[in-house]
Amino acid sequence: MLEEQLLDPGRHDRQAFTSGVRELDEYLQRFAIQQSKRGVTVVRVLVDTDRPGTLLGYYSLSAAQVDAIQLDARTQQRLPRYPVPCFRLGRLAVDAAYHGRGLGRLLIGCAVERCLEARKHVAAYALIVDAKGESAKAFYEHYGFTPCRDNPMTLYLSLGA
Ligand SMILES: CC(C)(COP(=O)(O)OP(=O)(O)OC[C@H]1O[C@@H](n2cnc3c(N)ncnc32)[C@H](O)[C@@H]1OP(=O)(O)O)[C@@H](O)C(=O)NCCC(=O)NCCS
Repeated sequence: MLEEQLLDPGRHDRQAFTSGVRELDEYLQRFAIQQSKRGVTVVRVLVDTDRPGTLLGYYSLSAAQVDAIQLDARTQQRLPRYPVPCFRLGRLAVDAAYHGRGLGRLLIGCAVERCLEARKHVAAYALIVDAKGESAKAFYEHYGFTPCRDNPMTLYLSLGA
């Protein structure tokens, strides 16, 4: 059974994780624990409970904000002129051995669900993400993320009214 868990260095083998994007692997291996402890991000991983040490994928979430001017014109009209509160999907990756099996979709769904849960308590308009390349950008657009006006590699997904 697939399960989403908080990253735990005592249980999860971070060194074996290989997504195909070195920066995303290094982040998991070298920085994710430290940044979680410092309250800068929350990192969640996907495991198969039959092999609970093996990481199939991960994502990280933090609080963020975006200038309203970066959003589409219609959205801007509905929002105040000051920076808009958001969540940031800082990193998301699936181990290369498991690409194309729907795990990326599952991780985005988990992340959005966490955001919807959190915004019951703290307001946030959208989920934003910094795509690490054209392929990642296409992946997020596939899920309805919209490129920001000045920086199309940053994309946002409205979390609903
Ligand atoms: C991008 C990544 C997360 C996709 O994960 P995955 O498990 O292979 O993707 P899925 O099998 O869940 O694909 C789900 C859907 O996204 C689509 N998709 C996958 N990668 C895509 C891409 N690069 N561009 C456009 N669509 C893509 C699939 O076709 C599929 O569409 P469907 O549901 O209509 O059939 C994965 O390839 C990865 O980790 N890549 C390296 C790291 C990376 O680029 N991360 C992005 C964050 S910056």
